[in-house]
Amino acid sequence: MFPKLLLFAPLASLVLASPALTDLETRASIDTSSHCGQWDTVTASQYELFLNLWGKANATSGSQCSSLVSLSGSTISWKTTWTWTGGAGIKSYSNIQLNKGINTQLSAISSIPTVWQWSQSSSSSIVADVAYDLFTSKTAGGKNTNEIMIWLANFNAGPLSYTYGSNGKPTPVASNLSLAGHTWSLYHGNNGANEVWSFLPSSGTITSFSGDLNTFLNYLTQHEGISTSQYLVTAQAGTEPTSGSATLTTSAYSLAIN
Ligand SMILES: *[C@@H]1O[C@H](CO)[C@@H](O)[C@H](O)[C@H]1NC(C)=O
Ligand SMILES: *[C@@H]1O[C@H](CO)[C@@H](O)[C@H](O)[C@H]1NC(C)=O
Repeated sequence: MFPKLLLFAPLASLVLASPALTDLETRASIDTSSHCGQWDTVTASQYELFLNLWGKANATSGSQCSSLVSLSGSTISWKTTWTWTGGAGIKSYSNIQLNKGINTQLSAISSIPTVWQWSQSSSSSIVADVAYDLFTSKTAGGKNTNEIMIWLANFNAGPLSYTYGSNGKPTPVASNLSLAGHTWSLYHGNNGANEVWSFLPSSGTITSFSGDLNTFLNYLTQHEGISTSQYLVTAQAGTEPTSGSATLTTSAYSLAIN
């Protein structure tokens, strides 16, 4: 309840005295409830939280729930908590998908600015990545031809690769690439459905990323034979867990296709 005294204050002074009001005006009303269904989606403006629990059936046990936290302007915040046991492969890719500006030909894209700030708490040994996932196709809305992943973290996982070293580790097709303010190794493989190109940080984990994802697409069209006539059909950012338990919290995320 308001204290009675406030009712006598002039309206203008109430507005000025409330610094949170501008935030409230840009902060959209969104569904912040927890969702745990295998293909649940929650739309928030140009974004969509997508609980893509595609490999769930391979786990002997486990679950994953995700929720949006806030949307302010074009910056969204969300979190996902997972625990998966058993099964060899990836269990899920819960992500924030961009639904605005996709199905654009690569030649027509000038920039894909993004910010991604995140933190994670986890059980002692997890197998997972935190990564952007982009797909391109011959046609707008068509079947995937190329998958382009930009990993910000590799927790005991590894990229798909056509070639492996004698140590059993995937061998990159290019190393020491300076793109978007960080140094990367590029891997090339196939997942049975489409070609997969994965940029992994040369070392460490990037928990605060800010850059232009078009830099990575330009590298692939200039050096790895991906055609600029391809359409960008999907742009997502999330985590691919195989085993363990973790909560990934994205405090700030934005993506746009210009
Ligand atoms: C896991 O589940 C998916 C979907 O049911 C399936 O396509 C895939 O082959 C399974 N196995 C592994 C190791 O991912
Ligand atoms: C990458 O850069 C590091 C440091 O400059 C260097 O030691 C290493 O040999 C380079 N690797 C390749 C594959 O060029």
